[in-house]
Amino acid sequence: MQVIEAFPTGDNEADLQFAADGSLRHLLTLKGLDRALLIDLLDDAERFVTPPGAPVVRNRSLAGCTVANLFFEASTRTRASFDLAGKRLGADVLNLDVNTSSRKKGESILDTIYTLQAMQVDIMVVRDASAGVPAYIARHVDDHVSILNAGESDVSHPTQGLLDLLTIRQRKGRFEDLVVAIVGDIAHSRVARSAAQGLHTLGIAELRLVSPPALAPDADEMPYASLFHDLETGLRDADVVMALRIQRERIGGLEGIPGIDEYFANYGISAERMQLAAPDAIVMHPGPMNRGIEIESSLADSPASVITQQVANGVAVRMAVLERVSKAIARS
Ligand code: CP
Repeated sequence: MQVIEAFPTGDNEADLQFAADGSLRHLLTLKGLDRALLIDLLDDAERFVTPPGAPVVRNRSLAGCTVANLFFEASTRTRASFDLAGKRLGADVLNLDVNTSSRKKGESILDTIYTLQAMQVDIMVVRDASAGVPAYIARHVDDHVSILNAGESDVSHPTQGLLDLLTIRQRKGRFEDLVVAIVGDIAHSRVARSAAQGLHTLGIAELRLVSPPALAPDADEMPYASLFHDLETGLRDADVVMALRIQRERIGGLEGIPGIDEYFANYGISAERMQLAAPDAIVMHPGPMNRGIEIESSLADSPASVITQQVANGVAVRMAVLERVSKAIARS
């Protein structure tokens, strides 16, 4: 039995991330990270990117540091990349098995966190289905502990946002004049929210959110973006097309949600539809992908697809973030 806990969501998550000297101590959201800091993190991550097949970059910058991965929701990419990132930087990495953790026996999340803190875990990487969990934990840990949000309900997935920004910069070399179309289940997508926040801060020319009406965000949630329900209009001349997974685990009822065939017919990204986008447009997907639903399978494996590059960049971005926060907590 896992106790259902309520996590108050405050409005100061963005400020809570910074230590007294202004350095990044937690990463809870991309809100509040200014352009200079985003660019710094992307530059840091770039140092860890190597071509496929080349030796990976390793250093000992996290030697003596302990990182715990606490994934209370399923993950392949984020969890594996935080694990590899910590090990490549010389950290001790603990992957807590949540199925056999005491939270299943009714232990509160804070008691789990205090237990790990007593074991001198320095950085806790947290994924949870409830909104507010990473910030709630960050408010309660000691000064020498850092919390990294690895996916929070439909709210935020900041390291995914950073790896998406890095991939776009590598392929396009700039942000200023880009038209980016994010397509699919925007309403339930933490990936879309973090990407949108980062792209807005970096000053892209136009952000389009394309979805069926039932999967659209509130009209006033992202005032800097334009909402579309017609895919073909949304894709026209886009430089970057980001397909999203349908978040079935977060969709309460199916009323108004298209069936699979109808979804692909109206919102699936195919090679034919990509002809509407800019001639050198790239197609992205955060994974896990539902081939033939959100994206045509052959398009996902085509030269226009940067999906494996996104995955590779995930390790580099998480190395950069781990290094950054480890310096902040070492100073504390
Ligand atoms: N993109 C992403 O968060 O994938 P995982 O759920 O596999 O971590």
